[in-house]
Amino acid sequence: MTVRTSGRADAASIGRTIYRAVADDRVTALAPTLAKLHEAGAFGFPELYASARADRYSRRLIWRDPEYRFVVVGMTWGPGQFAPLHDHAGSWGAEIVVEGSMKQTAFRLVDRDPEGRFRFIREGEEIAHAGEVSVVLPPLEYHIFGNPTSEVSRTVHVYGCAFDRCQTFTHDADGWWRSQTVELSYDA
Ligand SMILES: [Fe+2]
Repeated sequence: MTVRTSGRADAASIGRTIYRAVADDRVTALAPTLAKLHEAGAFGFPELYASARADRYSRRLIWRDPEYRFVVVGMTWGPGQFAPLHDHAGSWGAEIVVEGSMKQTAFRLVDRDPEGRFRFIREGEEIAHAGEVSVVLPPLEYHIFGNPTSEVSRTVHVYGCAFDRCQTFTHDADGWWRSQTVELSYDA
């Protein structure tokens, strides 16, 4: 990230720009819009991100649409910090790497059993570098996402809902996974 040393982050301008991109067709224009904001340096301000934490990646709310149509969240990932397999609450969204590199492993949900367990097929794995965007669009909304490097990475995420909770998944027996609802909070 080119850290901006002058000026201040304009969260409202970021919010307006993303609103214009998603108002009509949700995700089609979102990826190029995030890439353009990144190129223009809009995400380069340190105040958009919470400090790295030792116990997990940190999240800071950048912008919440007044009608909760989307939120914009800045995240800081310490070396080796990953989010476990999770969903996106059935919402569309996108994430851009602002600094460092991130690894994504996508999963496709293929089955549920009477006990409420889930079965997934592991799909592609990719490394994204600064300026690269990946899109989340249900039913393709399950992934493991994190920082595989030895440096801090920063990302900006847009979710098409309030996104204050999601489901995470942990391995169970015989290739099945169990879900857990997780409340998502923000770091100061
Ligand atoms: Fe995610």
